[in-house]
Amino acid sequence: MRVGVPKEIKVQEHRVGLTPMAVREYLAAGHEVLVQSGAGLGIGAGDAAYAALGARIVPSAAEVFAVAEMIVKVKEPQPTEWKMLRAGQILFTYLHLAPDPEQARALIDSGCIAVAYETVTDERGGLPLLAPMSEVAGRLAIEAAGFALRKSAGGKGLLLGGVPGVLPARVVVIGGGVVGTHAARMAVGLGAEVTILERALPRLRQLDEMFQGRVRTRFSSAANIDEEVLAADVVVGAVLIPGASAPRVVTRGMLAQMRPLSVLVDVSIDQGGCFETSRPTTHDAPTYVVDNIVHYCVANMPGAVPATSSHALNHATLPFGLALAAQGERAMVHDAHLRQGLNIHRGRVTCAPVALALGLPFVSAHSALGMA
Ligand SMILES: NC(=O)c1ccc[n+]([C@@H]2O[C@H](COP(=O)([O-])OP(=O)(O)OC[C@H]3O[C@@H](n4cnc5c(N)ncnc54)[C@H](O)[C@@H]3O)[C@@H](O)[C@H]2O)c1
Repeated sequence: MRVGVPKEIKVQEHRVGLTPMAVREYLAAGHEVLVQSGAGLGIGAGDAAYAALGARIVPSAAEVFAVAEMIVKVKEPQPTEWKMLRAGQILFTYLHLAPDPEQARALIDSGCIAVAYETVTDERGGLPLLAPMSEVAGRLAIEAAGFALRKSAGGKGLLLGGVPGVLPARVVVIGGGVVGTHAARMAVGLGAEVTILERALPRLRQLDEMFQGRVRTRFSSAANIDEEVLAADVVVGAVLIPGASAPRVVTRGMLAQMRPLSVLVDVSIDQGGCFETSRPTTHDAPTYVVDNIVHYCVANMPGAVPATSSHALNHATLPFGLALAAQGERAMVHDAHLRQGLNIHRGRVTCAPVALALGLPFVSAHSALGMA
């Protein structure tokens, strides 16, 4: 198959759909790979790195879209890219269509076969193509908090790990999933005192075992959240109820009772935020202060470290991308988890939550792929 990698054009997006590592695997499997000039620059992979492997470097996105049978990207296509998509062309990328009717309409009209990273599943009920970005965001949350605690950044002047004889910072993580676990690992590694609040009992048991007593675990009740948040120097919001807006676990009223200049890092901001006072921020201006509490609410945290993020993402997408390249849309007939990723198939919406959110007719992926 001819596989195309356009340069990402969304503002502040420096990741790339295929890293040189992945391109080498596609080429070894007998596929042709077209890479738009400059596509890998954001992760330090110049055209020469791709060309040396045998990829074809093409000057424009238009050429990539015109020739490739499958487009591999990171972010959802932007309006200039909508027009370049062709009927029957496979698009493999993050889409997040539910809140984006315009994009959904454009993809429907294009006749393309759109497979969304974020809805591909695994046998444990997880979302394997979202997990690597949650790992990155969780780890970054503690770096961001550590920075925001510095006096030079307007913080309270506290070192996360303390030093011998001086107490470390208290880090409270609400939500013990992928983001929460990775945040806790970083905080523990730096020597902070860490508590994870989680609602699912089986997960609390796993966390207890995983951290071997190095982290306190607590059931996430309103009373326990109150107690922990009021004594915290850092609160990481990492809750998720799949398909729903994030629950508001910290209210505005609590801020005034918190330790002054404590830091709230709302990783769940991409689902609306889990603190009442959260609003999305960018890497250019990541923090703001409400009631003497510092808020960090960057909605695309992995964008800060595009090299790490691209490599992590490619490790997860590679097997699915290779299957699509080898078998085309039939790959989704053979793999039920990849089939979950099918959002739009030749003009029809095949993802039930997207159809419901946008009030569009729904056709099952099963029947769209001729499996019924
Ligand atoms: N800002 C960013 O750049 C960025 C990057 C990656 C992920 N995220 C977001 O981070 C959030 C967490 O992602 P994840 O991959 O860790 O999800 P996950 O499903 O692995 O974990 C979420 C956890 O929250 C728990 N939970 C739900 N309600 C709770 C409550 N009231 N109190 C305590 N725990 C509760 C769940 O039981 C689950 O264990 C998501 O909203 C995700 O979209 C944001």
